[in-house]
Amino acid sequence: MPVVFDEQASTITINTENTSYQMKIGPCSILMHTYYGPRIDCDAGYAVSYRDRGFSVNPYDSIENRRVSSDTMPLEYPCEGSGDHRAPAFSLRRKNGAVGCDLRYVNHSIHAGKYSLPGLPAVYAEEEEAETLLVTLQDQSAHITVTLQYGILPKLDIITRAACVVNDGDETVFLDNAASANVDIIAGNWELIHFYGRHAGERNTARTEIGQREIVIGSRRGMSSHHENPFVILAESDTTELHGQCIGMCFVYSGSFACNVSKDAFGTVRSVMGIQPEHFDYPLEPGESFQAPEVILAYSGSGLGHLSHLYHKVISDHICRGPWRNARRPVLINNWEATTMNFDGDLIVSIAKKAAELGVEMLVLDDGWFGARNTDMAGLGDWVVNEKKLGCTMGELADKIRAMGMKFGLWIEPEMVNEDSDLFRTHPDYAMRIPGKDPALGRNQLVLDFSREEVVDNIFGQISKVLDECRADYVKMDMNRPIVDVYSAVAEYQSQGKILYNYIKGVYRFMDMLLERYPDLLLEGCSGGGGRFDAGMLYYCPQIWCSDNTDAIDRIRIQYGTSFCYPLKTMGAHVSAVPNGDTKRCTPIHTRGVVAMEGTFGYELDLNLISESEMEEVKEQIVTFKKYWDLLHNGTYYRLTDVMKNRSEAAWMMVSEDQKEALVNIVVLDTTGNCPNRYIRCAGLDPMAQYEDEKGTVYSGNVLMTIGLPMPLKYVPNTQWREFAREYDAFQIHLVKRTVSA
Ligand code: DGJ
Repeated sequence: MPVVFDEQASTITINTENTSYQMKIGPCSILMHTYYGPRIDCDAGYAVSYRDRGFSVNPYDSIENRRVSSDTMPLEYPCEGSGDHRAPAFSLRRKNGAVGCDLRYVNHSIHAGKYSLPGLPAVYAEEEEAETLLVTLQDQSAHITVTLQYGILPKLDIITRAACVVNDGDETVFLDNAASANVDIIAGNWELIHFYGRHAGERNTARTEIGQREIVIGSRRGMSSHHENPFVILAESDTTELHGQCIGMCFVYSGSFACNVSKDAFGTVRSVMGIQPEHFDYPLEPGESFQAPEVILAYSGSGLGHLSHLYHKVISDHICRGPWRNARRPVLINNWEATTMNFDGDLIVSIAKKAAELGVEMLVLDDGWFGARNTDMAGLGDWVVNEKKLGCTMGELADKIRAMGMKFGLWIEPEMVNEDSDLFRTHPDYAMRIPGKDPALGRNQLVLDFSREEVVDNIFGQISKVLDECRADYVKMDMNRPIVDVYSAVAEYQSQGKILYNYIKGVYRFMDMLLERYPDLLLEGCSGGGGRFDAGMLYYCPQIWCSDNTDAIDRIRIQYGTSFCYPLKTMGAHVSAVPNGDTKRCTPIHTRGVVAMEGTFGYELDLNLISESEMEEVKEQIVTFKKYWDLLHNGTYYRLTDVMKNRSEAAWMMVSEDQKEALVNIVVLDTTGNCPNRYIRCAGLDPMAQYEDEKGTVYSGNVLMTIGLPMPLKYVPNTQWREFAREYDAFQIHLVKRTVSA
């Protein structure tokens, strides 16, 4: 039984195979959070310190005991108005303007299987794989019930959290904040790791001390954003890739979010994660409920690498869905970087033809195939095939591609509209604009009001017609601007505070409809690259275009940051042309291939324009990818260097579950004359085993993991000279465990 209730100690303990998470019903029925860490079998509540602290108020029902204060106790779901002045998870405003309530424990129940969240993405599991705990909190005066939802996947060491709020009263109330999860940690020297960035520079890692202050990271953009990812790690200061304690919080949501991390005056660290409370003002009518999205929690006592493995597993097997989630994805070619919107049907066919000759398996037609879409000034909203530009129908183009033995995919951007479009001319109210205010434009486009069902239905109707016609195997679903003018023409004043939440639910509904109509469709998420790279999107799209930046060296850092939470097979990655469009850097095609194989793998250039020897390399890359894809995508992934700090080389490896095989990937970032010896320290191997590489060199597992793999040497052609690898050279070393005869 994963959930254990100890009535005498008043503790509810959630046990997974290797971890325990404990809450305790404290004085005045205040629900405390007492523990999250390695497995325990006791009441950890003794660690809570009850002292009469000045300027920390006491509950009315604890007038005799001034040592009780929610301001100083570790709490499971802190709410504003209870006397806790730290960051709240819950904040309620009544009709009369009063803010505050005081949620107390009422009861709990345990159920087989994992709860699901209607209209929202969430971890799913078979009934025998999971258990659900529901804890009811109530505020009697405000007539509010909050049910804390916990999903437990014991074998995976995963605990999920969500919260559902019900208005049991007879007056409308407003939710100013309804976070999904809170973690209070009583002791330790904790740091915050978060993943910040920008368009074309997503998910850099930053590690910062959590001092006596509040650190708020998040997004106010209506999307999870390029700027902060909805995933954070709390790590003890001595935690490394292979050692130490850390806790992850992954938000399964694609809209604005906030994570408030702080340390209070007495040393308790708090991390609250949920929907961005700014501009969130959710009216709850009598009898109505609000469902907060899910957060996936994981604890690792053996470093950041293991924490990533826990997330990779749960996202691969319990977030991603459909036939593609663990299958090999077709090697694709996308025309965007080769042509942008300047193409015709013949050019697309010629790109596809060369790609097919070299072994590419799918052509993806990107932006520019519909309406008056020849620049970004027009066309979005009009999902009608521009047959003049293509010289044929979409069905005919798809047939030409299929005749080459390839699959066919299409780009869409359903949430957007250009003012210069028939859709906008007919339904101007479909676009979000504040009456009387000039709307802010992003890439010359406006955002459609996806909080309205009829808007979603209109776009779905148009797009599905095209997909029906060409029987698309794949769709890339893009979103190219943040949301500014939050206003819905049909919502009354009181409902404007729930538009962004309903907008995201509209996006989820759109993808649900797509997958229901086309169950075999491979859907790739995209938002100007990785602006919506989150677990919410991965519930619908098993892969997301990781970044618009395809420079191999920049991509190493972007994919490194992404890998802390998300599996490699979810990262859209392509080989593109050099000099790179973003950085103007030139890297060898081999290196671009090695880096793209850290992700889904594909091409984004006109392969007619590369040299014969590069074409040979492309052929080899595709063979290599097909040979190693299972190891690359389903092996255990290890980050071997910290690419935010190590400027000399980047390395990562994948190890098969049975440790019989591994693939070490190395890219030289910098070199120097008479270079000192360099070694790549491996991980995850069988320590006592011997491994052999393709050249027949034999290594010991233990030596590889203590000294490391010597940086490969390159021979200078036609001489006896050996030199260290040059800047931007890349190596893939395949290691196979030797069977030792008895
Ligand atoms: C942004 C995407 O990230 C690109 O890959 C491309 O699809 C363009 N949009 C097309 O407009």
